[in-house]
Amino acid sequence: MTAEYDLIQHEHDVIVVGAGGAGLRATFGLAAEGLTTACITKVFPTRSHTVAAQGGMSAALGNMGDDNWRWHMYDTIKGSDWLGDQDAIEYMCKEAIPAVIELEHYGVPFSRTDNGEIYQRPFGGMTTNYGEGIAQRTCAAADRTGHAILHTLYQQSLKHNAEFLIEYFAIDLVMDNDGVCRGVIAWNLEDGTLHLFRAHQVIMATGGYGRSYFSATSAHTCTGDGNGMVLRAGLPLQDMEFTQFHPTGIYGAGCLITEGVRGEGGYLTNSDGERFMERYAPNAKDLASRDVVSRSMTMEIQEGRGVGELNDHIHLHLEHLGPEVINERLPGIAESAEIFAGVDVTKEPIPVLPTVHYNMGGIPTNYHGEVVTIKDDNPDSVVPGLMAIGEAACVSVHGANRLGSNSLLDIVVFGRACAKRCAELIKPETKHCDLEKESTDKIIHRLDRLRHANGSESTAKLRMEMQRAMQTHAAVFRTGDNLLEGRNKIVDIANRFKDVKVADRSLIWNTDLVETLELDNLLGNSVTSMFAAENRTESRGAHAREDFPDRDDENWMKHTMTWLNKDNSVDFDYRPVHMYTLTDEVEVVPPKKRVY
Ligand code: FUM
Repeated sequence: MTAEYDLIQHEHDVIVVGAGGAGLRATFGLAAEGLTTACITKVFPTRSHTVAAQGGMSAALGNMGDDNWRWHMYDTIKGSDWLGDQDAIEYMCKEAIPAVIELEHYGVPFSRTDNGEIYQRPFGGMTTNYGEGIAQRTCAAADRTGHAILHTLYQQSLKHNAEFLIEYFAIDLVMDNDGVCRGVIAWNLEDGTLHLFRAHQVIMATGGYGRSYFSATSAHTCTGDGNGMVLRAGLPLQDMEFTQFHPTGIYGAGCLITEGVRGEGGYLTNSDGERFMERYAPNAKDLASRDVVSRSMTMEIQEGRGVGELNDHIHLHLEHLGPEVINERLPGIAESAEIFAGVDVTKEPIPVLPTVHYNMGGIPTNYHGEVVTIKDDNPDSVVPGLMAIGEAACVSVHGANRLGSNSLLDIVVFGRACAKRCAELIKPETKHCDLEKESTDKIIHRLDRLRHANGSESTAKLRMEMQRAMQTHAAVFRTGDNLLEGRNKIVDIANRFKDVKVADRSLIWNTDLVETLELDNLLGNSVTSMFAAENRTESRGAHAREDFPDRDDENWMKHTMTWLNKDNSVDFDYRPVHMYTLTDEVEVVPPKKRVY
């Protein structure tokens, strides 16, 4: 290797990759615990995708009526269609309360009730008394909650003197021959230098892979980089078949219109002007779980009751809420609707369509954030030195379908949990062991190979083909034939990636190379998603198989584990769903029919 690939070495107790809400909550938690911590991020921290989260963060505070974290736990298990791990869900729902109060004390400017408490709005699938009533559980800062939380967490990180390496692109995990993660190699985009970050724990907080699809509410930076790195490290991803379609992306543009609109009283109509959700979910109506609403909208369109010239979308109304509520509670979406749909929300409905929004699957972890795999018949075997949090992780608290506002909760609770776990596991100033040269050389070789890739395929073209295939074949409704066709297309695209061309050879701000590395990561996510979706012959949560319309608990109440092979085939295994609780403060929720 030439001198331009000399690795600049750094030693820390912990490295966090990613500076969204999960990464920042972990980063400052670690710094506060006295661990030397650096956070590597490919974008400036406050540009991370958490900034786009709108509606809020769930926690059973009970500020707006009776609430109980056990009801929240029940709703989350039901929302997950019984694929969520109940120990982790218990932990999340119980810890939600101190976690949100902590955020308030850190300075998050939550909206307020008349008596000065944190304002909470209804959100889909959130109920009182085990499904009887509608809960007001989602803590909101107007419709810019993610923005408020992200900025506060970044300020806290700076206050705790955490170190940031901004516009560094993480290339790969450094794994030793015993399968222990020893660090990560990253590329400084600004000056072209390469860095080896040694750490006793590496925490992947790299977000989701929404950009595997053509139309997503996710930022263009959501390329599943951590998931890609984990696959290349020979580790599995979990439950990759479960992709959430948010019911209300702006038609054509894909931008998010928060579920908070329906929480504040907004509703959907078809071309007959009918509030059709009353037929599909007689109790919860427009506030049914997201998978249910997205499927209902899709059926209305398929049956010819879509709106617009092409009858291919649905109307979301909030005109009746009046300018006062809109200005106070939903100012951001009024602006987005104006810019992206040319709609004045006080006068006309917003054209909307189910749009890819969230990946329930990802890097398998336990509720401490430690990455797990199946080893020696142990389905909960911890991978030493490696953790994952946020959308990159699959804890699994969301199972087959995430409830809206449980994502901001997940990032804060598990960001905090993994900082606490690191404090238990790492003795400050522990020395780093020597590394085999091969463990870093192979990472540099891959970078060098891609940098000089001189084949006949363009990154942009392959990406577009992948996004279209995912959009068409891993959609709201799926069939075996369609998934098989999609799987073959995706494998073909992934194989053609071996013949990619990178035009720019520089290591300084080479966006061509960045996009190619991102595409490699996206392809790993897409291949495992497509295989997993074709493999799961049942309908559960967001995975709706027309050829297998029922949930099949006997055969499929288990997590899918997928390993990616070099030829872009996939190996499968399964982990049991955790049907136990952490404490005796609550009971396991047994599976039953899921109706709203
Ligand atoms: O609709 C929303 O505001 C999105 C929230 C979420 O995905 O949790």
